[in-house]
Amino acid sequence: MTGKSQNPSQQTITIWDPWIRIFHWSLAASVIFMLITGWFGLERSQLFRCFHDDIGQVIAALITFRLLWGLIGSSNARLLALCQNPLSAVTHIKDLLFKRTAKQERGHNAAGSWAVLAMLGMLGFQAASGYLISDTDNGDVTGPLFYSYSVESELPSFINGFTRGELTEQLLELHYLNADLITTLVIVHIVMIFLYWLIAKQNLVRPMITGKMNWKSSVAAPKLDIASTSRGFLLAIVVVLVFGWMGDWHKGKFFEGALTMCVAAESEFDF
Ligand code: HEM
Repeated sequence: MTGKSQNPSQQTITIWDPWIRIFHWSLAASVIFMLITGWFGLERSQLFRCFHDDIGQVIAALITFRLLWGLIGSSNARLLALCQNPLSAVTHIKDLLFKRTAKQERGHNAAGSWAVLAMLGMLGFQAASGYLISDTDNGDVTGPLFYSYSVESELPSFINGFTRGELTEQLLELHYLNADLITTLVIVHIVMIFLYWLIAKQNLVRPMITGKMNWKSSVAAPKLDIASTSRGFLLAIVVVLVFGWMGDWHKGKFFEGALTMCVAAESEFDF
């Protein structure tokens, strides 16, 4: 355990490794950008058109990194650690709302774990579907893999009679629907963090920034295996290389569309 004693009832301990924190704040900034440009009528603006598919690729890379970190990262980041008993999640929420208490945890609590899994799943679907679709009605945004297949081609026989074009139409609908669900979940996420602070006097944000928390419980803090920083670094490089290859970043494709569109339309910039 990486704990430093201050007095018998309180110690400063590590809770979040640097990679979880970098992941979290990069994801939060990217998703907030996507939601704001998507929701506040910016879908017809240059800002949305220029950056939607680039930031979408960043989100896809971040989610992939997090899922792999869930296999080889610190013990409290593991995907298995997130699959907690659903009944404990209900008890946790009831305790918070009705008894106004929350047990200190060296990781996500049972309710938070499920919210994290839901967020990773929804954002993963959103990013993956984004790679395959093209939306010419709302600002001509096209995913990096859209042109790698013919929209006329038939799909395998088990998806009878469907062309790829029809499937991508369905995916586009789901992409919009899922954006609503993500918005709801993000709002619930932020409200819950606020309620922890308001009701249970637990500041969850500071540990997500500094990686440290004040462990006040009389019970000893649970053991935590923090994965090495170099392991996270290597994983980050692999993920960037794979996504760079898929999005042709080496050919200057990353932000290329953004730059050309922004320069061409400088005069009609509307943000
Ligand atoms: C669109 C915005 C956001 C998204 C998509 C998001 C997503 C996530 C995810 C996926 C996690 C789990 C981290 C992990 O284990 O990998 C998480 C945790 C957390 N997030 Fe966010 N987040 C967002 C915004 C925010 C904001 C604005 C705050 C601060 C007010 C915040 C505070 C936290 C905290 C404190 C945790 C740790 C919760 C705990 O202790 O269990 N998040 N968030």
